[in-house]
Amino acid sequence: MIGHRGSPRTAPENTLASFRQAARDGATWVEFDVSLTSDGRAVIFHDDDLDRTSDGTGPLAATPFDALRNLDAGGWFSPSFAGEPIPTLEEALELFRELGLSFNMEIKPDRGREVETAEVALAIARDCWPSDLPAPLISSFSRASVATAKEVQPGWPRGLLFDRVTEDWKDVGAQLDVISFGANHQHLTAETIRTMHEAGYGVMAYTVNDTERARTLKNWGVDGIFTDIPAAMLKAFT
Ligand code: G3P
Ligand code: MG
Repeated sequence: MIGHRGSPRTAPENTLASFRQAARDGATWVEFDVSLTSDGRAVIFHDDDLDRTSDGTGPLAATPFDALRNLDAGGWFSPSFAGEPIPTLEEALELFRELGLSFNMEIKPDRGREVETAEVALAIARDCWPSDLPAPLISSFSRASVATAKEVQPGWPRGLLFDRVTEDWKDVGAQLDVISFGANHQHLTAETIRTMHEAGYGVMAYTVNDTERARTLKNWGVDGIFTDIPAAMLKAFT
């Protein structure tokens, strides 16, 4: 059970408040998205544009860090979270250490910055994350980002993400030496999970917010689910 962007039904996604809430919900793993500002700072943010989850506008990738830091990433969700900043990767990792949370870092590059985003994020994570703590899972939809993760931090496990699994999954999985695949649960079948397991890979499903669907996926042998409702999911499965 992995808190998807923290606990985003109860606190604004991909903020420190959301990760704290996930820990309060009982999650032991959280997923977050890391992207680069125009001046190359790694921040925790999902969308290409700032509009939906902050009071900013336009592309994150065109915004310098200093301007981004003045934005409010909580007020859109609820006035009680007003002033919540877009976190830096360093801040998120420090909080995970404090809370004892394990994490899945999803590299979310802007087009053309697949290698750079992975390089910057991995360099920070390597410096900030103590080697005696459990290694994070590094994942991306971008094959170039996963390839970069393999190159710069080969010892950390990797996952490749799909919406719908593509036919070349076995070849690309071997090439990138991933331990797991993540896929949109709506396109996952028992057969896909079984075939991937037989080939030696784990299978993770996103984003599962229905406990019955989670049960079906679990019966099919899925190895992990990303959920927006960690508290409810944990309650349903314990
Ligand atoms: O990593 C699983 C999931 O987060 C992938 O989709 O769009 O929520 O980042 P998205
Ligand atoms: Mg994500």
